[in-house]
Amino acid sequence: MRIDVLTLFPDYLSPLRLSLVGRAIETGLVELGVHDLRTWTHDRHRTVDDTPYGGGAGMVLRPEPWGEALDELLGPDTAPDADGPRLILLTPSGRPFDQALAAELADERRLLFGCGRYEGFDARIAEHARTRVRTDEVSVGDYVLNGGEVAALAVIEAVVRLVPGVIGNPESLTEESHAPGHDRLLEYPVYTKPPSWRGLDVPAELFRGHHARIAAWRQEQARARTRERRPDLLPPAEQPVVVAEAGPG
Ligand code: ADE
Repeated sequence: MRIDVLTLFPDYLSPLRLSLVGRAIETGLVELGVHDLRTWTHDRHRTVDDTPYGGGAGMVLRPEPWGEALDELLGPDTAPDADGPRLILLTPSGRPFDQALAAELADERRLLFGCGRYEGFDARIAEHARTRVRTDEVSVGDYVLNGGEVAALAVIEAVVRLVPGVIGNPESLTEESHAPGHDRLLEYPVYTKPPSWRGLDVPAELFRGHHARIAAWRQEQARARTRERRPDLLPPAEQPVVVAEAGPG
């Protein structure tokens, strides 16, 4: 897989050279290019942003450097193509990133990431990109970061660990929270040695070596945890009933 990242802060992406993703790059499973958007500016100040039309606070990313960067990275005459690259623009107003999208992106041969900053991208950046390459605007959660770099790190890590060969034991991918076929439950609690620590004991069910009972215990724990922390993940029939508050009178 080839990954290119467009950013105003290339150093922000340096953690990708560490750990699992770093090893995937070293072994050649993943090829990474990080590009400074200012490479595609032509004025003395290397300007990438300007004030919003219609007024309002903050600055907006101008479209020209993005257009030129994509021209260079994609080459001329590209059109959106199922076998071609896919562009992910990171923005808090994007579609929510989740494990299903991570799995989809892990199947691609080439991904490009665009990291926004300031008040966001001029809307024509995505509109024009869609004419050249499959494009998604993606958010990593309902909160606002200072820019898309940390979001890109999260997405790239979630995607690269699903690329075959990156994780030694693929079983660890199917057991974890949000894994497909997991009934969308959170992961059950896990324990290791010592059996007793500061007055806290490992649940006795895990010592009996009875595989079916351990599996049933884990399933129940995962359900209880999901009910408590993420009821929105439960199947509709198990969703807690919300009783509308009666209005005055
Ligand atoms: N840029 C700023 N906040 C973001 C978010 N939540 N997701 C993706 N990109 C962002």
